[in-house]
Order: sequence, then C-alpha cells, then structure tokens
Amino acid sequence: MNKIEYRVEHKDPPVFTPEVVIFDSPEEVDRYAASCLIKKIQEEKATALTLPTGTTPIGIYRQLVEAYSQGTVSFSKVRVFNLDEYWPIDPNNPSSYTSYMKQHFIDLVDIKRDSWDIPNGAAIDPNKESHRYEESLKAVPQIDIAVLGIGPGRTGHIGFNEKGSLVNSRTRYVELDPETATVNSNFFQIPQDIPRGAITQGIANILEAKNILLVAKGQSKTWGISRSLNGPIYSDCPASYLRYHPNVVIVLDRQAATSLG
Ligand code: F6R
Repeated sequence: MNKIEYRVEHKDPPVFTPEVVIFDSPEEVDRYAASCLIKKIQEEKATALTLPTGTTPIGIYRQLVEAYSQGTVSFSKVRVFNLDEYWPIDPNNPSSYTSYMKQHFIDLVDIKRDSWDIPNGAAIDPNKESHRYEESLKAVPQIDIAVLGIGPGRTGHIGFNEKGSLVNSRTRYVELDPETATVNSNFFQIPQDIPRGAITQGIANILEAKNILLVAKGQSKTWGISRSLNGPIYSDCPASYLRYHPNVVIVLDRQAATSLG
C-alpha cells in the first residue's frame, strides 16, 4: 500500500499589526510625520522615498521645506519616486501631481532634478510608461520609506490602487473609482476635466519598501482606517494589504481615529 504524504502549503503571507500613533491635531500629525522622514534622512547616507500627493501631505511638505530652510536637513542625497500621476494629463496642468510636487516640495528644496521621478501623464502609451517607471524604480535597491495617504470614504485606496487591486499588482494604468473621481474633481478648475485614470505604483511596489508611513486626517478617513486595521485583508479595501508588511506606522489625527475607540 502506498502511503500518501500530504504537504500543507502555507501560501498566505504572515500578518502584522501596524503601529498606530494618534495626535489631537492635524498639525501634530504633520510635525510627527516630517520628523520621521528627517530623522531617516539624517541617519542614512542616501535615502530613497516614495511620496504621495493630495491634501493630507501638504503640511508635511511645509515642515520639510521649513527644516531645509533652517539648515536642519538636506535632500541632496535623497531620491524621490512619486506614487502616482493622473493619465492622461499635461504635467504642466496646475492640477497634475507633477505640478503639485514642484509647488509644494521639489522646487523648494535642494533635491537634484534627476533624483525625482513621477509617472509621465503626457506619455502616449500608459503601459509603456508604467514599464519605464518600473525600470526607474530599480535605480535603488529598496525604498527606505513609502509615505502614503488613504483614499476617502469607502475607497480604501493607497496610491491609486482602487478596490479590486491585487496584492501582487505593480505599476500600471488604472481607472479611478467613481468616489475618488468625485472627491478629486474638486481640485480641477473644471471638475469634469479630471482624467478618468492614473498610472500608479502597485501594491507589490508599496509592500517592497523597508518602512511604510501612512498618514490620515479627518472624518472622511475613518472607514478606511478602521476597515484596514480590523477588517479582512481583501481587495475591497486595498489599504488592508498593509497588514502584510512588518514595518507600518499609521499616523492619525483624532478625527481619522474616531472609529478605533
Ligand atoms: C496621491 C495618492 C492618494 C492619496 C489619497 C488621499 O498621490 O496616492 O492615495 O494619498 O487619495 O488623498 P487626500 O490626502 O487628498 O485625502
């Protein structure tokens, strides 16, 4: 009689509990997040960062620019990769993420122009541009810190990895979730001009970073935060995939933390 051996394969990656830090005010969140980045940049000879845009990090960039002006930190050995950019969009459009980055950070500090990359919203073929961006990311062995926001309402997105994004997704073209498009159209002079899609780093790119710092402020983030931390790890809330990463810090103001009790 043949003995059949059953081998149990553990395909699910291990799950971790992110560290959650809660502050009374959005300003304290900005100061804390900026201080984490400054500390890392001061400690390392060279640092690679993945950075977000949106309303949430504006105060963080303000803190970083202030620290640079005061001589506390230099970005001359820092490489920056943005999470995402709308597609199609003229990078000179004031509502592009390229313009945002120049306005709030890149043009205000000593980062070398060729040490910053962001998907090109004017690329003719978004698939080719996604491939170019993947290759560009290979310029560094690993991202030291990926800073993230989280999508509003029930989107639960990170980058523009909307609902349905898979854990192994990489840089690619995605269509914006209708809820994302509605909220973000407010940042376009003519709301209907918001592009229907974006090029975004994927979930796998984000999870490859050494450390992840997710920042969330305000009521519109309560569902996403609570669902990410306490719900199933599933594609209906892509931020829940962060629990597959061992070094995640989630920085919240009181409002974003409301549903955590
Ligand atoms: C932007 C990005 C998005 C935003 C998120 C939150 O580069 O990747 O995931 O972080 O939509 O946006 P705000 O901060 O405007 O609420």
